[in-house]
Amino acid sequence: MAERAALPAHIGIIMDGNGRWARQRGQRRTEGHRAGIRAIRRVMEAADRAGVHHLTLFAFSTENWSRPRYEVATLMRLFEQTLQEEVDELHQNGVRIRVIGRRERLSARLCRLVEEAEARTRENARGALNVAINYGGRAEIVDAVRSLARAGQDLRQLDEEMLAAHLYTAGLPDPDLIIRTAGELRTSNFLIWQAAYAELYVTQTLWPDFGAADLEAALADYAVRVRRFGGVPELD
Ligand code: IPE
Ligand code: IPE
Ligand code: MG
Repeated sequence: MAERAALPAHIGIIMDGNGRWARQRGQRRTEGHRAGIRAIRRVMEAADRAGVHHLTLFAFSTENWSRPRYEVATLMRLFEQTLQEEVDELHQNGVRIRVIGRRERLSARLCRLVEEAEARTRENARGALNVAINYGGRAEIVDAVRSLARAGQDLRQLDEEMLAAHLYTAGLPDPDLIIRTAGELRTSNFLIWQAAYAELYVTQTLWPDFGAADLEAALADYAVRVRRFGGVPELD
């Protein structure tokens, strides 16, 4: 059945372009990442005002470890700092925080902060913020199959529902809209299972420049899409 898209319940964002933003200013890439962190709050507030209460942000991919050691270390420090600084306010605003991805390569400190933030905000239901760190869609599917096998499930009977129930995002709605900043026309391994039927929106705007007006433009674009899910177009 075709349906008008209206407002997405859940938006995934590939926050790309921090490095280009910094280069344009003759700054180090890490300055772009700092500016990228500042953009998150603006976008969360704009999403909340628009009535979208579920966001998943791609912060670090399983492939991003191939970046220079200094850049990776700075990003990890920024994740730690941001979690430490922002959890109180997010909690007061009723936001449930989840971090999705493989924990194994994260520092003990970051893991502890993540666990604390998740535990503290577990009961919150006004909004949901998922942050993908050391996240890869392929790794997620492999991890789901491993976890099914470990649980003694018969993989010959595997179906989509069983697999989805073992993804990091089990229990979360699939994203309706994926926004990618900085213009690249690819998913870069983000939510490749969950976004099977998501609408895609790519803007040239670099992530540190992305703000309320850009989010509103994405929502306006989404609102006139017709989602068919493989069915026939609406007859009118
Ligand atoms: C996105 O910005 C942030 C991360 C991937 C961590 P980039 O760092 O990829 O910025 P560009 O693509 O080099 O401009
Ligand atoms: C995707 O951006 C990952 C994040 C935004 C965290 P990349 O900059 O890593 O993607 P590619 O390398 O251009 O595909
Ligand atoms: Mg990039």
